[in-house]
Amino acid sequence: MYGSARVSDDSDRTVFRKAEKKYKLYYDDTSKSSKKKKQPKRVDLSEVLDFKSILKSQVENGDLLPGIIPLQSDLDRSVFCLESRPGFFFIPEALSVEEQCQWIRESLNNFPQPPNRTNHNAFYGPIHDLFIAANENKVLVEEASVPTSLESNSGPSVSNDDVHRWKFYGEHSVSSGGNPCKSVSAAVLLRKLRWSTLGLQFDWSKRNYDVSLPHNKIPVALCQLAKRMAEPAMLEGEQFQPEAAIVNYFGIGDTLGGHLDDMEADWSKPIVSMSLGCKAIFLLGGKSREDPPLAMFLRSGDIVLMAGEARECFHGVPRIFTDKEHAEITPIELQFSHEDDHCYLEYIRTSRININIRQVF
Ligand code: OGA
Ligand code: MN
Repeated sequence: MYGSARVSDDSDRTVFRKAEKKYKLYYDDTSKSSKKKKQPKRVDLSEVLDFKSILKSQVENGDLLPGIIPLQSDLDRSVFCLESRPGFFFIPEALSVEEQCQWIRESLNNFPQPPNRTNHNAFYGPIHDLFIAANENKVLVEEASVPTSLESNSGPSVSNDDVHRWKFYGEHSVSSGGNPCKSVSAAVLLRKLRWSTLGLQFDWSKRNYDVSLPHNKIPVALCQLAKRMAEPAMLEGEQFQPEAAIVNYFGIGDTLGGHLDDMEADWSKPIVSMSLGCKAIFLLGGKSREDPPLAMFLRSGDIVLMAGEARECFHGVPRIFTDKEHAEITPIELQFSHEDDHCYLEYIRTSRININIRQVF
């Protein structure tokens, strides 16, 4: 469902697909041939629910749109529910700017580290320190084609633990060899990083959790955050037990096609889903792909919970906004620009990261 379902632009067979097509990034044909930078096609965003302004008008004058229900909870944040989608919860501005930056750093540095798997595993095997390698302009080279003269200065490298086929090298050591070898720059691999999995590893080929795969526990701080944020969706006296998380990385034009997350045993437990980086449009459909989906903005720091009946609702992300006006990431840009290395700033300017945390059993 993932993977293949991510690309869904050539058909509008269902009502859900039509909505995906409506919001997806297209470029204006007219600007294609000209020398000007191509411009994204304008999209009518008037029907997109905006919980930032819903929160603002609730705080300022107590006003609420019809169908939006404020929830009383022990969480020190505003929580909203939707009359038409029981089990769905929206927590706008759930994370502080500092927390957003912390989870962006973790998502780039630590979450894609083995034994956690990423979309690159199938082809390259486990890759260590991809983010560092990308920022050092390293190149991943297939071992068999590396001239032996390069082996000595390859350093305490990285790459495939099982068969040692791919290794990172400095860009100059590869190009100066003049040897045609299979290689790919770490920067390209970072751009093509689409997912990593934490805790129990999800096997995308079998579309199920594979408990036999080696894994680390979800980091304690992420567990604590998820438990705290899950509270509005939990029954009295029960606590959410985070066992697995999927981290999605979106670049310009990337989408997540409509799907259900149905491989967890107990659908009464929520999926805790946090948004980082560029603003996105989230589509929340119904139990059939023929039910018209609700569109809403997801901004950096927002958290949504899907539990109970909402677990049976198709959902997806047809669009992220990477232009300055619509990305709405100025606070995190400012925070990152105070730091010595600007690598996070550069990445997040055109990216969105989603961390969704699940109780599997
Ligand atoms: C998912 C998912 C939503 C998002 O990974 O299953 O629905 O906001 N992600 O990226
Ligand atoms: Mn999902």
